[in-house]
Amino acid sequence: MARITESLRKSPGWMLLPLRLFLGFTFTFAGLQKLANPGFFNASNPASIEAQIRAYQLRSPIHLLLGIASHAPVVFGLIIALGELAVGVGVLLGVFTRLAALGGIMISFMLFLAVSFHSHPYYIGSDIVFVFAWTPLLIFGDGQVASLEANVKRKLGIIAPLGTTVGIDFGTITRVCGHHEAGRCRANGRAICQVASCPVLNGFIELGQPRSQRAATPVYDPERRRFLVRAGTVGVAGGTAVVLGTLSAGIGRILYQAPKALSDSLASSTSSTQDPPPTTSPATTAAPGASAPATTSAPTTGGPPPKGTAVGPATAVPVGQVASFTDPASGEPAYVLHPSTAKFVAFSAICPHAGCTVQYAGSDRFVCPCHGSAFNALTGAVLNGPAATGLTPIPIAEGSNGQLYVDG
Ligand code: FES
Repeated sequence: MARITESLRKSPGWMLLPLRLFLGFTFTFAGLQKLANPGFFNASNPASIEAQIRAYQLRSPIHLLLGIASHAPVVFGLIIALGELAVGVGVLLGVFTRLAALGGIMISFMLFLAVSFHSHPYYIGSDIVFVFAWTPLLIFGDGQVASLEANVKRKLGIIAPLGTTVGIDFGTITRVCGHHEAGRCRANGRAICQVASCPVLNGFIELGQPRSQRAATPVYDPERRRFLVRAGTVGVAGGTAVVLGTLSAGIGRILYQAPKALSDSLASSTSSTQDPPPTTSPATTAAPGASAPATTSAPTTGGPPPKGTAVGPATAVPVGQVASFTDPASGEPAYVLHPSTAKFVAFSAICPHAGCTVQYAGSDRFVCPCHGSAFNALTGAVLNGPAATGLTPIPIAEGSNGQLYVDG
């Protein structure tokens, strides 16, 4: 046991291996998950990068930066996904581990400021934990353990394999031994300092000889092949990332079923938000546990038009289904449900805990991916925290033309 402890103490690379594997796998998975999900790049999806940027912009201390990113959300989303993938693959393979750790810290800190800055208590937000989890790898790197870069360097002789004798000039030894003084050796009774009697070298006399006379001792030139090693290892890591990313994106697009978005239906609808047809007033019911009443309505046949903005046809949300739309009042992503004939309920998709976008999880539940809060999809009420309040209801009504109108 003492031996194992001593070996671990001498080689931080082994001690850091579990942390490195966890962080590498997590960031690789996070990047691939984004690339594999077409909804991430589809603006009409409430979980899209565009919807998330819009939502985070409202509360984040870096809202100015997010405002810039909101002009090119797909590019921003791609940078995040590919950045996570590059960091994850680099750390897993042991290629530029310190640089990858720095990238991990930057991505985590940016996510902390954008997403989990308002998490309360602060330690519930995972991003700040990731920031600090990366620091040991930033300081120690991979310790040349399970490292592609280190293995290639060993193969090419840029770093010496364990147990290899490396030539060091005798002059260097006299400078660092601590006993050398004015050409004499204090450790050897102030005898003339020479290789043959050097107590530090302890018999490695060959090292003090001129290079041409030495036995075949490997000589390592770190500069000689550095470019080749870097290009090669980056090529392997980059190629791995490209293959993984391409496979994920392809498989994701084959398997993924995008949730319905009302805005898609609205685009092809013939109705106009400027000229809604006549309707009767919608009926209103309270949403237990939610912060304000939600509105439901029955299809109408006459009377004044409903107030508000058309967000899409009611037929796009069959009974028992859910669809997404953008709340015209706030610009936030939102969901509308059709629990029974002629009844619609709508809620903001923004989690009241720290602003993540909730997702419909079936069984009449919305679940927040950030810290696991769950909400009743019919009322918006909290089923479990850490969110303390329910989802914000959005008054919605169906007009006589079959369009759904949001009061905003
Ligand atoms: Fe924390 Fe939703 S943001 S649970």
